Amino acid sequence: MASFLIVIISVVLSLFIVWICGDWRKRRTGEPPLVSGLPFIGVTLDYARDPLGLIRDTRKKYGDVFTCKIVRKYFTFITDPFSFSLVVRQSKNLDFQKFAMGFSQRVFGHADFTSPVFSGSYREVHSIFRQTLQGPPLQELAQSMLGNLQAVLGRGLSREHGWVEEGLQNFTNRIMFEAGFLTLFGRDAGLLRSDGVKCGKTCMQKAAQDFLVFDRAFPALAAGVPIGLCMPAWRAREALAEELLHDELHRRNCISDLIQRRMDAFDRMHLDETGKARTHVCMLWASQANTLPAAFWSLYYTLRSAEALAAARSEVHRVLSGQALNDPDRPVSLSREQLDSMTVLESIIEEALRLSSASIMIRVAKDNFTLTLDSGETVAIRKGDFIALYPQLIHLDPDIYPDPTEFKYNRFLDERGERKSNFFKNGRRLKHFLVPFGSGVSECPGRFFAVNEIKEFLTLVLWFYDLELDDINTDLVPDGTRAGLGILPPPRDVLLKYRRRTETAG
Ligand code: HEM
Repeated sequence: MASFLIVIISVVLSLFIVWICGDWRKRRTGEPPLVSGLPFIGVTLDYARDPLGLIRDTRKKYGDVFTCKIVRKYFTFITDPFSFSLVVRQSKNLDFQKFAMGFSQRVFGHADFTSPVFSGSYREVHSIFRQTLQGPPLQELAQSMLGNLQAVLGRGLSREHGWVEEGLQNFTNRIMFEAGFLTLFGRDAGLLRSDGVKCGKTCMQKAAQDFLVFDRAFPALAAGVPIGLCMPAWRAREALAEELLHDELHRRNCISDLIQRRMDAFDRMHLDETGKARTHVCMLWASQANTLPAAFWSLYYTLRSAEALAAARSEVHRVLSGQALNDPDRPVSLSREQLDSMTVLESIIEEALRLSSASIMIRVAKDNFTLTLDSGETVAIRKGDFIALYPQLIHLDPDIYPDPTEFKYNRFLDERGERKSNFFKNGRRLKHFLVPFGSGVSECPGRFFAVNEIKEFLTLVLWFYDLELDDINTDLVPDGTRAGLGILPPPRDVLLKYRRRTETAG
């Protein structure tokens, strides 16, 4: 019996050793320094704990380019901001779709659009983003969002004039989720649903709740946990998909061009109904997951700084002077020129994005190739490896942004109060100094709409309300546990007091 056990243990041990050896990778000539970390998991634990800290420490040790093993994958980090454009332009050797589509398919459960059955028509679907979120259609979306924001705010405004207390995050999520949802997916036509349930405010609250449950599970899903093991997230995703079935969407009015055209395209692709609805959940997530925390931080930092609040209010009053404050028959209007002229709000939003954004840009090497960096140095990249850019390194670099962790509302304004776009490192002007929306082929197509939405939100809440944070002395720091996924949320909510303004200020 004992000898049988010894044989079994030896076999298991040998297999284990063979597995470790097979997992071990040797650095080849010309390749960047390799940080292997622990067997199998590499530096996954350090990365999960503090990605920015890990990248900064490794850069100090090994220089601007190095390869780390994270969750059994090899990531080559390019940390020199001047080499950023060189990576972004490498679409011949680096693939974005492969990683993004695999990830999206796994998390949202939609079809594999890279499959030859779909890829031609999916390219057409992809082109809808730019055709409907940018250029002239952007104006229409911004107007629709403005109307929806006022409709949502209007419900709260009908209360009496005393102070109301609510968590700032709750306040922001509640208003922005509903207005953003209505802008893209249209308004309920007021009909009863097929199951006899009357939909409206309650459905919206349920959708917002489902969205937050699903979104909270995102770090686990991104780390590779199958959604089947996160039942609340799976249930929430499927409940959202049910709301976004084409049969439900056909009952809604004022659907955005973006969603209408995606519906038409998916109908032509003959996806099954649940598959179509899951692509709409994906779009809902893309449109809200970053916008909600970005709106939170923009308002939070404004309310914490007397200087920022005064400058923002003064800009809002300049633009809206002469408009009625509390007349439901005369809603606030904002032309494109007026929105564009609000440089103080834009600087506040950009500064909030700089402080809270922690996305990672990933490309997959299509083949072995040599990447030439800005310094002229060359590095060999291995087929199948991930190339990663981490914009937070730029956003929090003290050479580029003095006092990088401090909120300065006018950081993106020049002496004349106009947009500032000249930022330097080592005396050289940077092309990529603020990258919360990614860059190159994967650059967020909704970036102009996102900034407009937040501008409109800030304008309206500063116009309609007096707002105060309960405790302005506690410094909230963005919650790093979602690093890599975009805009970091606050670690907790903070109490907001607000009341309806009664007179038009100067
Ligand atoms: C503050 C708000 C937002 C931020 C910070 C943000 C950020 C980003 C980033 C970093 C990416 C690229 C991801 C990558 O490189 O893998 C992205 C992609 C995307 N975003 Fe946004 N986004 C925001 C708002 C929006 C909005 C409002 C919409 C639509 C209404 C939107 C639609 C999309 C879409 C469709 C993609 C995928 C593009 C593609 O596959 O080529 N985003 N976003």
